[in-house]
Amino acid sequence: MTHRALRFSTICIHAGQQPDPSTGAIITPIYQTSTYVQEEVGKHKGYEYARTQNPTRSALEQNIAAIEGGKASYAFASGMAAIGAIATLLQSGDHVVVTDNTYGGTFRLFDKVLSRYQLHFSYVDTSHPELIEQAIRPETKMLFVETPTNPVMRLTDLAAAAEIAHRHHVRLVVDNTFASPCVQRPIEFGADLVVHSTTKYLNGHSDSVGGIVIAVRDDDIAWLKFVQNAEGAILSPFDSWLVLRGTKTLAVRMVQHNVNGQALAEFLAAHPKVTSVMYPGLPSHPQHALAKRQMRGFGGMLSFDVGTEDAARRVCNRVRLMALAESLGGVETLISHPSSMTHASVPPERRAAIGLSDSLVRISAGIEDPEDLIDDIRQALD
Ligand SMILES: Cc1ncc(COP(=O)(O)O)c(C=O)c1O
Repeated sequence: MTHRALRFSTICIHAGQQPDPSTGAIITPIYQTSTYVQEEVGKHKGYEYARTQNPTRSALEQNIAAIEGGKASYAFASGMAAIGAIATLLQSGDHVVVTDNTYGGTFRLFDKVLSRYQLHFSYVDTSHPELIEQAIRPETKMLFVETPTNPVMRLTDLAAAAEIAHRHHVRLVVDNTFASPCVQRPIEFGADLVVHSTTKYLNGHSDSVGGIVIAVRDDDIAWLKFVQNAEGAILSPFDSWLVLRGTKTLAVRMVQHNVNGQALAEFLAAHPKVTSVMYPGLPSHPQHALAKRQMRGFGGMLSFDVGTEDAARRVCNRVRLMALAESLGGVETLISHPSSMTHASVPPERRAAIGLSDSLVRISAGIEDPEDLIDDIRQALD
């Protein structure tokens, strides 16, 4: 039976997983080796050197390619290394249209590093398809989208973005870190490449940093395989093993992330000290209808406004169960103050333009009992 015939949670557990050929171990071992012994010159088992091939990493790559519905995937040392590898598909003079509210590190890579190599970037609000269309130039080669965005939870219509991109012979790249492939599968809407920081929901346990690119086009697959080896920013065998362990429980974890995200959003929306809540699962979200169309569940990420920066800092400092920390997607709930933490490197005028105010608080809902999370945020607000 092919993986396409299996259902999502079964694919998470079984895709890319065979009992270890030498022992029958059900779990793919951590092949902690730098090289492989060859029987004679030119005669080997498909493994020559561990930057180029590693069985633990290959098992993870097959697993996540199936989870995202792609043809192949390549694992890197971090989400940023994965995005850097995607950028090597570009050549000097190329232009990229980018969601204006991407992860700050993505903006930093594009604006401070890649712009030195005659690559050009236009940052637009991709939640309006007409703005994507207007930003495309003859030299545009890539449309790089994040949906939902961090932390203001704006959505991009992936089917519309794919239609525009392909009409102009542009690749659509989607950073799917925030949603996870359980909630949103961009390839089904026409994305050419999907990227994840595996640090987040795919690993899910806040104990590994990594990234992965999932591809469907044969030319992209050949190039990414080449670049993974040529640049060498590979995911280690141990981290590959940790993420493989994480993806086995992705489907069940995401059910609870969705429940907890919705429960916190509904509680906060009814709280008198909260002026607004940004969560795609609330009917008040301006793109709730789109969320219902392209997401299965609404995820564990939400933001809310408490009116002043002082109040936002107080809420973050007063939680007892939630942890004040950057990152997201782990089993434990995290709270953060985006304007002074994750988005401090974004200039204040850009923060204002995307609606990221100093009075905003972001939560990555974990998988604890939702009543305990509500009790915690209630006492912090009171
Ligand atoms: C949406 C998104 N993409 C990419 C990254 C970068 O991933 P990493 O920290 O694993 O390099 C992050 C990190 O927070 C992120 O939130």
